[in-house]
Amino acid sequence: MTTYRRWVLAKRPEGVPQADVFRLEDAPLPELQDGQALIRVEHISVDPGMRSRLSGDSYAPALPIGAPIESAGVGKVVTSRNAKLKEGTLVWGGFGWQTHFVSDGRGVQALDPEIYKGSIKPTAAIGVFGIPGLTAFFGLFEIGKPKEGNVVLVSSAAGTVGATAGQIAKLQGCTVIGLAGSDAKCAYLKEIGFDVAINYKTAGDLTAAFKTAAPKGIDIYFDNVGGETLDAAIVNMRRHGRIVVSGQISEYNTAEEPRGIRHTLPFITQRLRMEGLVVYDYGVQFNEARATMAEWVRAGKLSYREEIIEGIEQAPSAFIGLFTGESFGRRLVHVGS
Ligand SMILES: NC(=O)c1ccc[n+]([C@@H]2O[C@H](COP(=O)([O-])OP(=O)(O)OC[C@H]3O[C@@H](n4cnc5c(N)ncnc54)[C@H](OP(=O)(O)O)[C@@H]3O)[C@@H](O)[C@H]2O)c1
Repeated sequence: MTTYRRWVLAKRPEGVPQADVFRLEDAPLPELQDGQALIRVEHISVDPGMRSRLSGDSYAPALPIGAPIESAGVGKVVTSRNAKLKEGTLVWGGFGWQTHFVSDGRGVQALDPEIYKGSIKPTAAIGVFGIPGLTAFFGLFEIGKPKEGNVVLVSSAAGTVGATAGQIAKLQGCTVIGLAGSDAKCAYLKEIGFDVAINYKTAGDLTAAFKTAAPKGIDIYFDNVGGETLDAAIVNMRRHGRIVVSGQISEYNTAEEPRGIRHTLPFITQRLRMEGLVVYDYGVQFNEARATMAEWVRAGKLSYREEIIEGIEQAPSAFIGLFTGESFGRRLVHVGS
């Protein structure tokens, strides 16, 4: 094999990305140098957070035109000249939307066989135990600071960040309300233990819907979407409430000025706090958090849903489907095995 396939950024998107923003190309496979290993990529992720980097700087600099699309991936070491990456080892890292990845070992981690066994598949390394699951964990504990009896509202609750945050909040003795964009997603939220599930597309007045679901107010709003949902949550917050700004997906594709927050008075009257996070800031604690979450999964206290799309050719449409509500759970693309 002398070439591999990869998706690169062909042009910057305007609004919701279209297929022509991406280009699939064959690239020559470099000869392995001492200290390098060749990884055959098996699964890759599509992530809402990548959207802003297609247009400009975000938590990391903008992706240059022509650069491979970045993402998390799981794969197997097929050839190695790196003593730490043995051939046949399953690994995860930032492999991008490509079939193969040459690594010098930095940023690549072997999958711990103590975690990835039985019903826990290697793909969980880039889902519930990867960036989305860890965002739920650290967003909730470090910013939300849940206490028994708290009322927690979670938006995009059927996605991996939302579903994980909601279930962890339940484990802390909270009452959890989830928002999702279809009745099927709402049924899933009830299955995994959410107390209330609201279809925000059919609920009508969200401020009134939140008041009905949480008559005494919301203690923690775990926000994945921003926009008008955030305003409806703000006016329903209880005294000393905490708003965790995890994501703002409703704003990612807007070409105009962001909608902005309209209700700021409750921050004074209800003594509210609102704080965002970049999950990578908690990197030194990732392994500990992952081990805790793995115990919960094994004990049947935390579940996750994966949606595997077949073929690297489908990566752009899988990504675009994140913004239409088509995706349901952790969306991954199977590249090969
Ligand atoms: N801060 C961090 O470090 C960090 C790290 C990772 C992820 N995040 C953020 O966490 C959030 C969730 O990530 P995820 O990976 O679990 O993805 P996700 O929630 O599965 O995202 C896709 C889902 O978002 C919902 N959505 C799309 N457009 C929407 C809109 N205009 N209004 C409301 N909902 C919309 C759709 O579900 P519905 O059918 O329910 O509408 C869609 O299926 C994202 O905003 C992401 O950027 C933050």
